[in-house]
Amino acid sequence: MSDLILGLETSCDETAASVVAQGVQVLSHVVASQYALHEAFLGVVPEIASRAHVQHLTPVVEKALAEAGVDLSQIAGIAVGNRPGLIGSLIVGVSAAKALSWSLGLPLIGVDHVQAHLYACELREREDEAVDAAALSRASLGLVISGGHTSLYRFTDPTELTLIGRTIDDAIGEAFDKAAVMLGLGHPGGPAIDQLAERGDPEAIAFPRSLLDPDSLDFSFSGLKTAVLYAVRGQPQGRGKNATFERSHEDLSDQQRADVAASFQAAAVQTIVLKLERAVKQAREAGEPVQRLVLGGGVSANRALRQEVQQFADREGLQLGLPQMTYCVDNAAMIAGLAWHRFHIGRYDDLSLPAVATTRV
Ligand code: KG4
Ligand code: ZN
Repeated sequence: MSDLILGLETSCDETAASVVAQGVQVLSHVVASQYALHEAFLGVVPEIASRAHVQHLTPVVEKALAEAGVDLSQIAGIAVGNRPGLIGSLIVGVSAAKALSWSLGLPLIGVDHVQAHLYACELREREDEAVDAAALSRASLGLVISGGHTSLYRFTDPTELTLIGRTIDDAIGEAFDKAAVMLGLGHPGGPAIDQLAERGDPEAIAFPRSLLDPDSLDFSFSGLKTAVLYAVRGQPQGRGKNATFERSHEDLSDQQRADVAASFQAAAVQTIVLKLERAVKQAREAGEPVQRLVLGGGVSANRALRQEVQQFADREGLQLGLPQMTYCVDNAAMIAGLAWHRFHIGRYDDLSLPAVATTRV
């Protein structure tokens, strides 16, 4: 019996499809980015995103099948990211997945997009690459850092996660994107900050590292965002929408802008590492030590963050699961891969599968 899963992903502004074998081997991985459609608005416009998914999904699925060298008769199950996300965008993927499942008589599996990000590090392209199957049942700490989420989990099974911390305001990716706008860089801002920070001094500006209460595993990035605004534009006169600033980002030299980017990135990355340290310590004190650390989501592509987290994992003696760059941002391979774990134990959904905009986990 085939164990090929066709995964669909439309939760935000990427239309993606992928064919994955045995839950780990990526046979194809196609992503149509809507970047150009949203760029002028400096953020994702939900209505534009939904319409673009409708246009792109069928060609993206056809391309994923062609690149995998298979046709629909060889597919064993249909997976879709059905939560959380922009509701109009999710509905496009969920409806397409239901249509495929019903017309082909194949099992349908709805996957949590945020949880799937923590599965991205398991994916590989070559059949002969070693798979550490035991890693999946180790006591793990998982951190999803993306444009919409900053969420910390404990788990020993990739399909059953317990949320232990989350952002109380902005997601870390949102902070990267807003800082980029303040510096006059494009959208999405994460990769642009990553580049610019390379030329800057991470100690030039002492931005805040918000750690909340001493025991808290939650995150807060809104204070850091505001501190970047003041560093770039000076102190405001007046409040709210009527506030005026001393200067614009164009008044800063290239070096000053690079220093802001590097100092912001250092504060964001250090906040993450300090929280991971806290979570590992708490788990140890509770007699449930962590063996493995897993990262996922767009911000896990950040080079400084990958380096710092690797050093942290080495210091603590933790196994580290970092996704390959191509699987950090939204993709359908992580959806298809995670769904396989439900497919092979027969835990399917039916045609009542809803699209859900927000979930607690
Ligand atoms: O996971 P993702 O594709 O979408 C969501 O589920 O949100 O993450 C997108 C986020 C954006 O905020 C983007 O700026 C950020 O990931 N990002 C990065 C980098 N590459 C993407 N942030 C920092 N450094 C990067 N290299
Ligand atoms: Zn995502």
